[in-house]
Amino acid sequence: MKNIDAYTHTRGESIYLDDIPEIAGTLYAACFDSPLAHGNIKYLDTSAAASSEGVVRVLTFRDIPGINQIGGIIADEELLAAHQVHFCGMPVALVIATTVQQARAALKKIRLEVDPLPVITDPRVAAGKGELIVPPRSFSMGDCSAAWRDCDFIYEGQANSNGQEHLYIETQGAYAIPGENGVIKIYSSTQSPTAVQRAISKVTGLPMHMLEVEVTRLGGGFGGKEDQANTWAALCALATNILKRPVKYALSRMEDMRMTGKRHPYSSDFKIGLSKALKIIAYDVTFYQNAGAAADLSPAIMERTLFHCTNTYFVPNARATVYSCRTNLPPNTAFRGFGGPQGMFVMECAIATAAEHLGITAAAIQHANLLQTGDELLYGQKVLSEASACWEKAVTHYQLDQINKEVSAFNNQHRLQKKGVALMPICFGISFTNTTMNQARALVHIYTDGSVLVNTGAIEMGQGVNTRIVQVAAQTLGILPGRIKINSTNTSRIANTSPSAASATADLNGHATRIACNTLLNRLKTVAAAALNVEVEVITIREERVYVGDSMSLLDWTQLVLATYNQRVSLSEHAHYATPGLHFNKALEKGHPFAYHVFGTAITTVTVDCLRGTYEVDAVRLVHDAGNSMNPLIDLGQVEGGLVQGIGWMTMEEVVYDAEGKLRSNALSTYKVPDIYSVPKIIEVKFLETAQDNPGILRSKAVGEPPLMYGIGTYFAIRNALRHFKPGTRPAFDAPMTPEKLLINLYPEEAAALDIRQQEIPGLQMLPAT
Ligand code: MOS
Repeated sequence: MKNIDAYTHTRGESIYLDDIPEIAGTLYAACFDSPLAHGNIKYLDTSAAASSEGVVRVLTFRDIPGINQIGGIIADEELLAAHQVHFCGMPVALVIATTVQQARAALKKIRLEVDPLPVITDPRVAAGKGELIVPPRSFSMGDCSAAWRDCDFIYEGQANSNGQEHLYIETQGAYAIPGENGVIKIYSSTQSPTAVQRAISKVTGLPMHMLEVEVTRLGGGFGGKEDQANTWAALCALATNILKRPVKYALSRMEDMRMTGKRHPYSSDFKIGLSKALKIIAYDVTFYQNAGAAADLSPAIMERTLFHCTNTYFVPNARATVYSCRTNLPPNTAFRGFGGPQGMFVMECAIATAAEHLGITAAAIQHANLLQTGDELLYGQKVLSEASACWEKAVTHYQLDQINKEVSAFNNQHRLQKKGVALMPICFGISFTNTTMNQARALVHIYTDGSVLVNTGAIEMGQGVNTRIVQVAAQTLGILPGRIKINSTNTSRIANTSPSAASATADLNGHATRIACNTLLNRLKTVAAAALNVEVEVITIREERVYVGDSMSLLDWTQLVLATYNQRVSLSEHAHYATPGLHFNKALEKGHPFAYHVFGTAITTVTVDCLRGTYEVDAVRLVHDAGNSMNPLIDLGQVEGGLVQGIGWMTMEEVVYDAEGKLRSNALSTYKVPDIYSVPKIIEVKFLETAQDNPGILRSKAVGEPPLMYGIGTYFAIRNALRHFKPGTRPAFDAPMTPEKLLINLYPEEAAALDIRQQEIPGLQMLPAT
């Protein structure tokens, strides 16, 4: 089935926040944010801005009637800075004016004086000063200290991965509208309507039932709107609560890039030990997560780093520790993979280190250690593994031997162009690691004309969840998809929603929809059985017809719906789903946190121009475990999109903050994401066809986050090409591998002579601040 939004998307008719028709009298907000990364506020004067043309009001923390706090996991994040600023871009004041232009113009008249305090941007420096968001956390299994004795080879190293700007096409924003008796309706571009509702409740002091959060769809989220949509919604609702007027704020691209957090950069130390047979015997890893100035979702993200730190390998003796480090950057946040990719990257660096020292391919080590069914992961869950199935299918289907031969032949014939190959197997756990969040509800109405309206807590953000829910309802009820409409997501219809995140949205909300539809189906069947004078067990509904056994009855769907209504039987159902079997003991750091795991293997081939340091991704050919895919077209879109986003993170997207904590890559002129010219020339995706059952919706597997991690393969393919040009070189693991970094690694002696050090590569630190 095609994505149900395809028609309006391609015609430009889909409604996003900024397309909502505005009510007469709507005011516009703009945020004054801190120009300094750390300091005590000495003086704030908003009077000139307040008397600026068109300005209705300027709000500061003093205007907050509730509490000045939007921290979700930890209450450590003020909505508007009171006495200190903690990062460049921290909201300090909100101007509300008659037009957007007037609001923005007035920002320039606000005067803020800050007594600067020392700025920390490096997570290791923060850890050294004890600046931690939460105490460090460790997972372990086996006996890592003792196991080194049993290793034939031991290698150590360091790996860094940088942040990543979400760059959702639709920027953050909100629109708050007052109702009677103080209620507020808020349109928000959020992955988590309930988090928005909760944050506004705290800030305004209004109970949650007076706040209605409504979302039709997002123009992308990627995790950036899981927690960080709260700020703008809370600011608009605060203004509406005070002024009793509709207030809207849709951020400009540069405001969004400057004020919101990104994927967490990590700096990590690893130690890996192997046997002569290339079995990984022991692995010890320490992660320094750059959390930014407040907790946001960092404690949950550091946890997922631990869950995924051994990627798709069985490691009998493993120890992993993560420090969530407080720095003076915007609070870093969820981003597709949620800390998992950062953990998996370090494991692949460890394997590459061992392979390079041993003079073998990384693939030999990867293959020797793939998870097998029954293997235990370091958090105690035994895995139902498709790791080998994906690997073998990729190797045979895409003829890896042939690929390797062609690459060798090319490399023998070319001096200044080298190709590299890398395999990237993945394993990703599906469920929120916070067990509580694995619940969802659906409210399904059948109207008397036979049409069906489905409400869930799922947010459509381009990933196609609404299409999947249509499929679930249609298949369960035995009717055509065209009869089903998915309603906007609204906290008054579906309460206490979990964010649309963790790849789990279609599973959770799909199962709730399935349960509601099944209950309705049983009511309809009971009415049909009575009308047809047969037992209910023999009734089925297929293609909108009622069947008795194999024979079609005279009753069709609309007649049955009307008959059910006439019998005064309810045609509405509200159902609840909680993923079964999940548990996790945080004292022991053991349990069964995931409903299941997703597997896959990607084979990446790149060509490096060894004169210029540029590269092209020739092909990514992969086998992906989508379970029994319920929608191969949507799954394909998610795999391709995730892969390209992962390649961007690993190769070209470079978030640059200077030593003062100011974002230098603050526009699309300085922050490069993959475009049509930089995506792989060939992407081939083959789904693993498997008979294995799994608890995903309609036996499909979640697909949102896992494919991003195939992009890690591109980093190592480039590294391998570099090593064909310069045998024996082992440059530092420092993602992304931008063309500039690659050029320095191709000619380190020449770069040294020019005194270009890798750390200074962005080179922007030398430019004056703007
Ligand atoms: Mo997603 S990174 O779990 O919003």
